[in-house]
Amino acid sequence: MSLDKFISTLDQLEKDALDSFESAADADAVEETRVRFLGAKKGALKDVQKMMGGIDPSDRKAAGMRLNAFKTKLQESFEASQSRLGGGEASGIDPTFDATLPGIRPNVGHIHPITQTINHLMEIMGRMGFEAAEGPEVEDPWHNFVALNIPEDHPARDPLDNFYLATASATQAGSEGSQLLRSQTSTVQIRVMEQHQPPIRVISLGRVYRPDAPDATHYPMFHQMEGLYVDKHVTMANLKTVLRVFATNYLGGDVQIRFRPSFFPFTEPSVEVDFLWNDTWIEFGGAGMVDPAVFEAVGYDPEKVSGFAFGLGVERLCMRRHGITDIRDLYSGDLRFLRQF
Ligand code: PHE
Repeated sequence: MSLDKFISTLDQLEKDALDSFESAADADAVEETRVRFLGAKKGALKDVQKMMGGIDPSDRKAAGMRLNAFKTKLQESFEASQSRLGGGEASGIDPTFDATLPGIRPNVGHIHPITQTINHLMEIMGRMGFEAAEGPEVEDPWHNFVALNIPEDHPARDPLDNFYLATASATQAGSEGSQLLRSQTSTVQIRVMEQHQPPIRVISLGRVYRPDAPDATHYPMFHQMEGLYVDKHVTMANLKTVLRVFATNYLGGDVQIRFRPSFFPFTEPSVEVDFLWNDTWIEFGGAGMVDPAVFEAVGYDPEKVSGFAFGLGVERLCMRRHGITDIRDLYSGDLRFLRQF
């Protein structure tokens, strides 16, 4: 094929293609034109490239230049027609972008299992009329011990069993003035009764601290759910009913619960609360009828009111419900563990 013939063929094709792109009325027409002229399988460009093989070698360079110009023209015309119809790059929309593919989710995290447990416990107790109360984690000995009928020489106040804050001398730790990280949420019982008159129906969910060596069931920081109910004629039967209703709601209707006689300075009588877990009775906390000495400490008349209190371990409840076997997993920060909840 002569160079002249080749060039005139391209001139004609180019004119046809440009006319077709320019007159295309919609995206389908543009696409049809693109396939007809630029299509990889049967497009006119394909035929033209074949024709190159029949060009005299001395004319190849000139033919190649014309071919490149042809390709550029058609490509430009194609893009111009696309943007004229509102598609393509000129509109800022990448034609290869598929808006129906799933997006990339931002990493928002989720609520820690202990916080989930706290919310769940508040919800169950709330349905029984218990309101949430709070107290500070740094406490004074009055609220952590004295008002709870735990005298100065009581072993529970031993500096080795508590996190006292820095004091002037070691002998001072455990005495009246030294502050500590609360060892129990029973402190909130005192704070609520100091502020309010009966009837009282509160729970308090928060952290407590004890210098225990961490193992599968102990951790130096853990959470308790404290309950306090004070009114006229409150009895041990009310306490047992509330704990039983709570346990069946949180752990299921088939939960087995046991009250074991025990001792706490601030309740009389006192019980330990056990739930059956894998055929073993496990202690979940303590409870009892509020000791008259506690009512006196907050200015209530023990002859006129009675009440019950309980304190349950939140981690143990969470572990029992979810089948977690090591408390340390909750605080290791291992996301592979936490993501399961
Ligand atoms: N404060 C007790 C503890 O931490 C539990 C308890 C709370 C016992 C209320 C009786 C009444 O072990």
